[in-house]
Amino acid sequence: MILILKVTDDIFNRIEDMKKINWINRKGGGVMKITVINGTPVKGVTWNMKERFLEPFRGFHEIKEYILPKDMPEFCLGCKNCFFRGEDRCPHAEYITPIWNAILEADLIVFAYPVYALRAPGSVKALLDHFCVHWMVHRPEKEMFSKKAVILTNSVGAPNTAAQKDVMTSLTWMGVSGIRRLGIGLMEGVIWSELSEKRKSLIYKKVDALSRKYMRFEKETMRLKVKFYFALCKKMHEAGLKSSKEAFLDDLHYLNNGWIKDRRKQNAANH
Ligand SMILES: Cc1cc2nc3c(=O)[nH]c(=O)nc-3n(C[C@H](O)[C@H](O)[C@H](O)COP(=O)(O)O)c2cc1C
Repeated sequence: MILILKVTDDIFNRIEDMKKINWINRKGGGVMKITVINGTPVKGVTWNMKERFLEPFRGFHEIKEYILPKDMPEFCLGCKNCFFRGEDRCPHAEYITPIWNAILEADLIVFAYPVYALRAPGSVKALLDHFCVHWMVHRPEKEMFSKKAVILTNSVGAPNTAAQKDVMTSLTWMGVSGIRRLGIGLMEGVIWSELSEKRKSLIYKKVDALSRKYMRFEKETMRLKVKFYFALCKKMHEAGLKSSKEAFLDDLHYLNNGWIKDRRKQNAANH
């Protein structure tokens, strides 16, 4: 009897979710694109949190997943080709380009990773280092300004904040405004299958609450912090373009996007 009630309940919940999602699709005009960066290949706690988060979206929305370090197994070599010659010159472009394109296409970016030594795992940092060229101080992409992001983390007991900040800082500097985080302290142990049912359902409850926030999906608007950083960077690049003899790729990127004026011409005309 309990089983029948549970199955019926699950079916009703699913139908409710489908209604919501279809409604969003009709109103919002299309499928939401979700790009997921898995910071560990282990199918443990992180994986279960992430799977639970994605569950309501599977089958309705487009989900692309990358697993680190398999899908990006290299560290930044510090060659600076990306800054001076273009990101296509990165020695790891074969790994980075598809992931970056998937991030650019996404409406929602999901980072899921465990806490290692109080911070994000090296695999995640290695990916983020390769994205530095897309920070607002260099060459941001306007698509990033309307994205949302979710950071899912877990640890045995340590605070998750510092580990989440590693990704938050990068996303903010890449122009993402709407970032939500969920960090879980497991307390009981580190192996998913060994956690008590009570602990698992507590985790699921928190993850479900977060998922629900994206049922009704709307594009993000640029918030104050990002606006402020962007304004500073515009000033910096306008000044850079005006003063340097040879224009840097970063300054030209700002110019070509129409974000700054070309004061070089004005100066030349005035003389
Ligand atoms: C190399 C390494 C470092 C870790 N550092 C910490 C830590 O600083 N604090 C903490 O609470 N847990 C730490 N942990 C535990 C993991 O965060 C925890 O086991 C997590 O649940 C692993 O997620 P997974 O099941 O997805 O692999 C560490 C685990 C590893 C493998």
